[in-house]
Parts: sequence; C-alpha cells; structure tokens
Amino acid sequence: MTEARHLLRCEAMNEVTLMSTPTKAVPALPDAQIVTQVKHYTDRLFSFRCTRPASLRFRSGEFVMIGLMGDADPETGKVKPLLRAYSIASPSWDEEMEFYSIKVPDGPLTSRLQHIKVGDEVILRPKPVGTLVHDALLPGKRLWFFATGTGFAPFASLLREPQTYEDYDEIIITHTCREVGELTYGRDLIEALKTDELLNEVIGEGFWKKIKYYPTTTREQSLKMGRITDLMKSGEAFADLGVPVLNADTDRAMICGNLAFNLELKAMFEDYGLEEGANSRPAHYVVEKAFLD
Ligand code: A2P
Repeated sequence: MTEARHLLRCEAMNEVTLMSTPTKAVPALPDAQIVTQVKHYTDRLFSFRCTRPASLRFRSGEFVMIGLMGDADPETGKVKPLLRAYSIASPSWDEEMEFYSIKVPDGPLTSRLQHIKVGDEVILRPKPVGTLVHDALLPGKRLWFFATGTGFAPFASLLREPQTYEDYDEIIITHTCREVGELTYGRDLIEALKTDELLNEVIGEGFWKKIKYYPTTTREQSLKMGRITDLMKSGEAFADLGVPVLNADTDRAMICGNLAFNLELKAMFEDYGLEEGANSRPAHYVVEKAFLD
C-alpha cells in the first residue's frame, strides 16, 4: 500500500471510530449491510451508499455481487437472494461502499432496489473481482476511462484513488449518455474533487488538474453531441482534448459500457495497436461490461 493510500485508510478508520453508532440496526440477512444514503438522479438512475464489511478489502475498480432477498417460492416457500454484479463506485480507502445503479422498471432486482431507503438492508457478498484495476495495465503516461451510462461507476472509484494520479500524468474521462441528466452523477463527482480537502492534501494540492472530462449526449442537446466512438473516428474528440490518437507507448485505457460500445472500442483499440490486458498479464487496455438488470 502506498503512503498516500495508507493515510487515507487511516483517516477513514478514524472517521469510523468517531461516527460509530451504537443504535445501528443489527443486520438480519446473511452478508447484510445497512443503507446510509440514497440519491436519485433521473427516473432511470440512482446511487446509494451502505456500510462496509469490516473485513472487506478491494482494489478500486472492482465489482461485487449485491442484492436483496427474493420473493418466496410459491411451492416451497423458500426465499433466495437476488444478486447482481455491481461495480464499487467508492474508492478502496472509503469507510463506506457506494454503488451507482440503473432502474429497470421490470428488472427483477432494480425494480425493487430503486425503492431502498436509509436504514434498509442490502446483501453484499464480500468477494471483489474485476479487470478494471491498475494491476492489469502496464505503466503509461495517459490513462483513458471510457464509459456509457452507469459504466461510470468503476471510474467513480478510480477517480478517487490516489494511485491513479501517482501513476499517470493525465487522466481523460469520457462519458456518453442519452440525456444530460444522466451525466449529473459523474459531473458532480469530478467537480467535488476540486474541493475535497483530504484528497488534495494526500495526493497533492490541485491533483484534479490532471483530469480532462469529456461528456457527450446522444439523444438530448448538450455542448457536445454524439457517441464517443464516432467522435474519435472523425478525430473531433482528439482535437477537442488536444491529445494525439491513442498509442501503445503512452496510452492506457479502461472501458466500461454496454456490450456494443465495448466491442466497438475494442476493435478501434486493436487498430491503434493496443493489446488487451488482464490481472495475470498486464497490457494496454482492459474492458468490463456495465451490468444491466
Ligand atoms: P445512442 O443513444 O446513440 O444509442 P444505453 O443507455 O442504451 O446503454 O446507452 C448509453 C449511451 O451509450 C447512449 O448515449 C448510446 O448512444 C451510447 N451507445 C450505445 N451503443 C454505443 C456504441 N456501440 N458506441 C458508442 N456509444 C454507444
């Protein structure tokens, strides 16, 4: 653990001690955690925070299974947990867990999860995994995060992770959404980094100046319209950002979006000469599907 991360972890622990609440409800479910905050952004998106299992260690960018108890089986009366993979949106040093979720009206889990309130229980299986981690990339100069919709979640974690700024000179985050309101979670998070006293102290004052944020919308008017893939193919995105096309010497990338987006970007990266990495074999870029319910 780097010194910066050790410091953050200690600060987080201190806060846990200071904030410890003896009145906290005793979890009744296996692997239950208590919801501490819920925020709704649009009729399709919300985020929530919950308590963190004391023994859970994870790497920023990983995901876990979370969910609720399902309905009783009409024949046996047995209830089983209803779980889905969710990227952890909070960084590895945070004392709580944060998640960013879509609301699918008839989705088995999210149709119910969207109604959770502070004090409710959610199930969180403490087995983090995933490929969107620093360990899966070779050293580089510029780190790109490519997200659509709720695919922003792992980058919400990595944007608050000191190693991101220790390892790279520049961080470019692109986020393509249908509508302007769907950018709010990411935009607010990036804006909040500027005034985050703890991170500015630990990583270095003005660390956030390394970030270039490139939000685009496809179905509602905004300052920059279009799919990021099209904007890269035309060269417009690179011109706007003032950087050259990605290349294997300097650029590293993480992708998290819907399947078609992931595949299109992968094909583009192979044309740029970038190789896909994994935990066991670090390379130039890594991919993860933003999970839908
Ligand atoms: P579009 O509106 O043109 O389909 P979704 O909510 O369906 O997951 O989409 C999130 C965003 O990802 C939308 O802005 C959508 O654009 C965009 N998108 C979908 N497929 C691709 C793709 N293959 N390449 C780039 N962007 C995509």
